[in-house]
Amino acid sequence: MPMQKRVYIETYGCQMNEHDTERILRLLESSNYLETKDAQEADFILINTCSVREKPEHKVYSALGRYKWLKEKRGAIIGVAGCVAQQEGNKLLNRVPYLDMVIGTHAIPMLPQLLQKIEFFGQRICETGFDPEGNYLKTILPQKPPVVGSIRLDKVNLSTHQPEGLGLLEVHPEPGLSTPASKAGLRAAERVKSYVTIMQGCDHFCSYCIVPYVRGREQSRPSREIIEEVRHLAEMGVKEIFLLGQNVNSYGKGLEEEINFPKLLRRINEIEGLQRIRFTTSHPKDLSEELIQAFSKLPKLCEHIHLPFQSGSDKILKAMHRGYTKDSYLEKIDRLKEVCPFIAVTSDVIVGFPGEEEKDFEETLDLIRKVRFDDLFSFKYSPRKGTRADQFTDKVEEKVKQDRLSILQEIQKGITLQKNQELEGRVEEVLVEGLSKQSEKDVTGRTRSNKIVNFKGDVNLVGKLVPVRITNAYPHSLRGEIIPAQDLSICNLRSVIPRKA
Ligand code: 5AD
Ligand code: SF4
Repeated sequence: MPMQKRVYIETYGCQMNEHDTERILRLLESSNYLETKDAQEADFILINTCSVREKPEHKVYSALGRYKWLKEKRGAIIGVAGCVAQQEGNKLLNRVPYLDMVIGTHAIPMLPQLLQKIEFFGQRICETGFDPEGNYLKTILPQKPPVVGSIRLDKVNLSTHQPEGLGLLEVHPEPGLSTPASKAGLRAAERVKSYVTIMQGCDHFCSYCIVPYVRGREQSRPSREIIEEVRHLAEMGVKEIFLLGQNVNSYGKGLEEEINFPKLLRRINEIEGLQRIRFTTSHPKDLSEELIQAFSKLPKLCEHIHLPFQSGSDKILKAMHRGYTKDSYLEKIDRLKEVCPFIAVTSDVIVGFPGEEEKDFEETLDLIRKVRFDDLFSFKYSPRKGTRADQFTDKVEEKVKQDRLSILQEIQKGITLQKNQELEGRVEEVLVEGLSKQSEKDVTGRTRSNKIVNFKGDVNLVGKLVPVRITNAYPHSLRGEIIPAQDLSICNLRSVIPRKA
């Protein structure tokens, strides 16, 4: 039997990257590499990078610097994957002499063969071609837990097992390996909720954005593959599916079958065992009435939408090439709230885009106050090489950008806290994701509106949907208490009663 090897992956950026890391780990397990959380014992160190803004991009070089000595001491193979790899390609190999591998966003399935080339022939490799067939989107399905007699091991009473053991039984752990039981199965983080990629790439070419250059054009996965994957995960005990794509609203474009995103959601909603569906990201321009209606019609679709607005100024939106106006964005929000009154809305915004004047920034603040987002991810504009906005000459000074960001974040902080406080005294349906990191006596989970709730409980609750009364609201989370079944009749059942027809 070949010697077991260890892989250490450091992940930056969005959920797509996190999910790519999971896919890579699954792929490498079948090539005899198991994950380790300790870089010092790794035979292969991979940095999965993000280049959407300047800050995460710079992290790749400091990460590489940190691992140089492991190459020298242990001969570890060192690689860079993700968006910086796609963008920089051979330049990275030239700049970092101890780097063995640069692997682009479409080349993940080739990883085992590329590793062999490095191991056996000592080659340095750069693989950054795009795959027009979309084969790179295919996933290795995780292995279902073994059956002993008539007992499925994922149904065994969890109280006798370690907290991470949901869905998998501990099988002869090897010392030093962090996921000993995960061989070709689901890793701890994926066992209650899992990501599923439905499309990748983007055709929008917003003037500030590097994504279409590093992730390629939009490509959708055939629906039968997606349904098969979700069904498989649901059979393994996964309760919540997070559908991923740079612009999920354009799902189906270019496929031979007659399908769009709302239709796909309807089919996923039918899958037995699955309890919750979420998705990200949506482009406001492509948010159709059919999708808005899905929030009222599909019981498993959670009441949360992430709908980046980027700016509240029509002038800036035009320069960004976003394809909507402040008013048309607000109309979509109104419509969502009409159809689904309890929907939580989160968003992304950029401050200091070239040409942004004080009055444009005021429009952004006005939009924030009107919508009252549940949460907002705010960024200073960061020029990306190769994008159109990088050529714009009317750049905003760094100090102005920073001041605007601080003002905006202060306003949003107040709104987020108020939104959380509105939930105090309410009963929310919470999906328990695991034990709390802060206290052994607590579990942590999320409401349907995607808010984090901590409350007293033990490992037996992991993977369950429970009614929780919210007792305290904080800026980033909620505290609550579980409602015993017999008390449910006297509660304010705002979220426990299905609000959907
Ligand atoms: N500068 C600043 N923020 C950016 N984003 C994307 N590109 C840039 C950039 N060049 C932000 C957008 C996007 C989020 C993922 O990152 O708000 O929605
Ligand atoms: Fe980037 Fe715009 Fe595509 Fe979003 S829609 S990934 S911001 S180009």
